[in-house]
Amino acid sequence: MKINLALIISIIAAVGLVAFGFTAFQIASERQQLNNELESKTIQVAEAFYKAHFFRKPKTDSLHFRHITDSLITQYRFSGLAVYYNNDSLVPLTSSSEPFLKYSTDYIAQAISADSSMGNLLSIHGKKVYEYIRLIKQHDLPESAVIFYADADYITNIVKSIWLRNFIRWFLQALVISVVTLLVVKWGILSPLNRVVEWIKAVRFGNADQFKKRPMLNFLEPLYKEISGIAQAMQEAKAIAQEEAQLRTSGEAVWTHERLNEEMKQLLEDKIMVVVSNREPYMHVHAGKEIKCIVPASGMVTAMEPILKACGGLWIASGSGDADRETVDEHDKVQVPPYENKYTLRRIWLSKEQENHYYYGFSNEGLWPLCHIAHTRPIFRKEDWDYYQEVNEIYAKAVLEEIKNQEEPFILVQDYHFALLPKLIKDKRPDAKVAIFWHIPWPNPESFGICPWQKELLRGMLGGDLIGFHTQYHCNNFLETVNNSLESRVIWENFSVKIGNHFTLVKPFPISISFTLKDYENGTGQQEEPTELLKQHGLHAQYVGIGVDRIDYTKGLIEKFLAIERFLEKYAEYRGKFTFIQIGAPSRSLLKSYADITSAVENEVNRINWKFKAKNWQPILFLKRHHSHEEIIPYYRSADFCMVTSLHDGMNLVAKEFIAARQENDGVLILSRFAGASQELHGALIINPYDVEQTADAIKEALEMPKPLQGQKMKQMRRMIMGHNVYSWASNILRAMASIQN
Ligand code: G6P
Repeated sequence: MKINLALIISIIAAVGLVAFGFTAFQIASERQQLNNELESKTIQVAEAFYKAHFFRKPKTDSLHFRHITDSLITQYRFSGLAVYYNNDSLVPLTSSSEPFLKYSTDYIAQAISADSSMGNLLSIHGKKVYEYIRLIKQHDLPESAVIFYADADYITNIVKSIWLRNFIRWFLQALVISVVTLLVVKWGILSPLNRVVEWIKAVRFGNADQFKKRPMLNFLEPLYKEISGIAQAMQEAKAIAQEEAQLRTSGEAVWTHERLNEEMKQLLEDKIMVVVSNREPYMHVHAGKEIKCIVPASGMVTAMEPILKACGGLWIASGSGDADRETVDEHDKVQVPPYENKYTLRRIWLSKEQENHYYYGFSNEGLWPLCHIAHTRPIFRKEDWDYYQEVNEIYAKAVLEEIKNQEEPFILVQDYHFALLPKLIKDKRPDAKVAIFWHIPWPNPESFGICPWQKELLRGMLGGDLIGFHTQYHCNNFLETVNNSLESRVIWENFSVKIGNHFTLVKPFPISISFTLKDYENGTGQQEEPTELLKQHGLHAQYVGIGVDRIDYTKGLIEKFLAIERFLEKYAEYRGKFTFIQIGAPSRSLLKSYADITSAVENEVNRINWKFKAKNWQPILFLKRHHSHEEIIPYYRSADFCMVTSLHDGMNLVAKEFIAARQENDGVLILSRFAGASQELHGALIINPYDVEQTADAIKEALEMPKPLQGQKMKQMRRMIMGHNVYSWASNILRAMASIQN
């Protein structure tokens, strides 16, 4: 408002000043012109009059002369006429000239002394007259003159009317200009400015929707561009600050190995924790003359190892490395990890027969295909079952031996190899808190029902206090299986089973990896070059996909390769540019089903490569050997996407490890909907691996996904994993165990 008023006053003053200047100038020149005209007209008329009537000495007092002077006054707008005689007498020839006479004497004297007729403008009592002194050149009338008085008042009136006209014009101009200016200011400047102000406010308050709306600015366009830049930078800075704040907040809630350690001290007090699994976390193997220590490819090991490393304890597992016996002490124990000695590994030695029937036979030809709906038929042999029981008893004996002097020990049994163990331990040591975590899926009751020893298995598991699965779905399948086949009470309200007086809780604990705030924040800033990894194999490609699996028929490797083949058929522009690297760890190779899947996978790779292969390029690079975690990391980091195509999988930690490795928050995860991980990793491209077309399209989508979207999805998944890492998994399961009243 103040601005408007000041603006109007300024406009009025400016227009007024200009109008005044112009008017003054116009009046000066107009007045000059009018004066000149009056002067020349007066002289002209006066001369004519003089010549006509004063050539000879006139009878100025005659009636005739009076008529003449009257007509001069009326016709030529003269105000009067007078005659001056050398005797200093000034005689009015008309009565109207009388008021002027006394003002003319000086000027008459000047004209006479100059000997020249002269004109002059007089202002007498507000009345303007032009006097013209015409010298009378007659010898008998020396130093005499006729004085003509012409009315000059009309000039003043004209000037006044010019002032008035110009004042009105100035007023109207000022009015119009003010109104127009006000409108221009309002619509042309203030409105866009207000819009900019609103927009800047939106930017300041981080109102993303309004921020995106681009105001119509026209002349403020350059300003908009500048502010956009600043706003963008502000938004980014704000987002980073918010993220950091969020991370700090969540960081306090994120489970770390230190926090788990503290938690365990409180939960366990001075009690011992024993982990039991078939697969050992470290295998010692001969490598030439040396002994190498390797970490086997196992999701179970990936998950459990960081917990033991953080909290110590005892891990009992089968010694399966060919140098294992050489590295244990007299109690079959070895401190691991090598050179760090964080916990104790006790190795159990199984005979070839035991390994053959319990591990290969019952566990991997029976239970594994039974629990995975991957269309490989389970095989149940009585002999395998006998060995399975025998090995479970061997392990039970080892555990009981280890806990004989320990009160209320915590026993964490791992996986399908030890379904009987919980009961075997609990029967002897009811004070022990025993849990079994089933790392693989649990099928529906009909599927599980084909196992001839399902009741024994269920009773064995239910002998413990807690049974964990990755998902609620698997818990439900388990409870329904129990409901269908055992004399027991399934309490659905709290997901527990009662047999006699014993309760067993059945709960989901989605397993995870060791991924903390430190890992989340520690971006290296350096991205591995996929071309470098391919170069080592004499290949070149612009885009790279990665898959890391044990060679297992549940992993959907054939389906994965068919999708790659279809992708290259459908999107031929990627031929020569895209290579998929599949790291395949040989697994359970003594079994026919595994030997078959290995050769089937190899054949498929060869067939597809042969079909498309070109110089320095092939669609699939199959790296069939065990790779350490450190070796796999560069592949995870350099690939454009990771593809997990499990036909059925409890969780699948490869998916989580790939995400953990993406420190730059880019890359895409293609994930089978049949892997437990798909229920947590919502940022992944979820596929049905049996749907070759869909998977082929997902590859294209992954390769063409814009970086910002990749970042958004990746960050969300990284945060999810950070918030649900393996330390929180362990704390949940241990808290659940601690809360059990024996
Ligand atoms: C799955 C099982 C693990 C097992 C791993 C490797 O992840 O859940 O218990 O260790 O496969 O299999 P392997 O037979 O080599 O131990």
